[in-house]
Amino acid sequence: MPRLAINVDHVATLRQARLAAEPDPVAAAIFAELAGAHGIVVHLREDRRHIQDRDVAVLRKTVKTKLNLEMAATREIVEIAQKIKPDVATLVPEKRQELTTEGGLDVTAFESSLADVVETLHGSGVAVSLFIDPEPKQIKAARRLEADYIELHTGAFAEAKSFSDRQEQFERLVTGARLAKKLELGVHAGHGVDYLNIQWLKNITEIEEFSIGHSVIARAVLVGIDRAVREMLQLMG
Ligand code: PXP
Repeated sequence: MPRLAINVDHVATLRQARLAAEPDPVAAAIFAELAGAHGIVVHLREDRRHIQDRDVAVLRKTVKTKLNLEMAATREIVEIAQKIKPDVATLVPEKRQELTTEGGLDVTAFESSLADVVETLHGSGVAVSLFIDPEPKQIKAARRLEADYIELHTGAFAEAKSFSDRQEQFERLVTGARLAKKLELGVHAGHGVDYLNIQWLKNITEIEEFSIGHSVIARAVLVGIDRAVREMLQLMG
């Protein structure tokens, strides 16, 4: 069974709507772990629109499973990661105007600067994952950079409007996951994964971990985080 890593950014988004103290993403992470989540993910964005520096520092001390820090490959955030030492740093592209991460990282275009960042993080004992589209050339570039994991961007699959498009995007993910596994990269996947499309995605046995935020936190608002996480785990298993 793949692992489930819960992204608690949306809990921080709700808190920041009032610039208040609650709801606390740290509390959400604790409840998610108690319900069986295998990891916690947060994205410390440059504009600090949801997760704050304090959250990452406290999560580092409280998360008992695995802390995965999503981050842009910028000097400021890399220095924070070196200090906090998450279990995994997932490098993502970041644009100020976007509602959420829009596309995968173009590893081939920024290979040399990303190589420096991967080396720096490895030097601090942090494993590195690269969030990329399921493109063979990106996967091969991730291998060249000696990334530990790739996270396959499942957004195009999740947003496919027709059955044939969905099938096509699914095949791209299958091919990408197989190639990554062959190259001995750990395979994560995420973006837009929900309680319906997980039924497809869980069949890609090369995917070791799903990183899920929106669908689980949206459900948690209505049924509670414990039930929302347990229901996802049940579907995955
Ligand atoms: N993985 C990455 C790299 C992301 O940027 C996000 C969104 O924060 C997710 C996974 C989770 O996506 P969603 O919130 O759609 O489940």
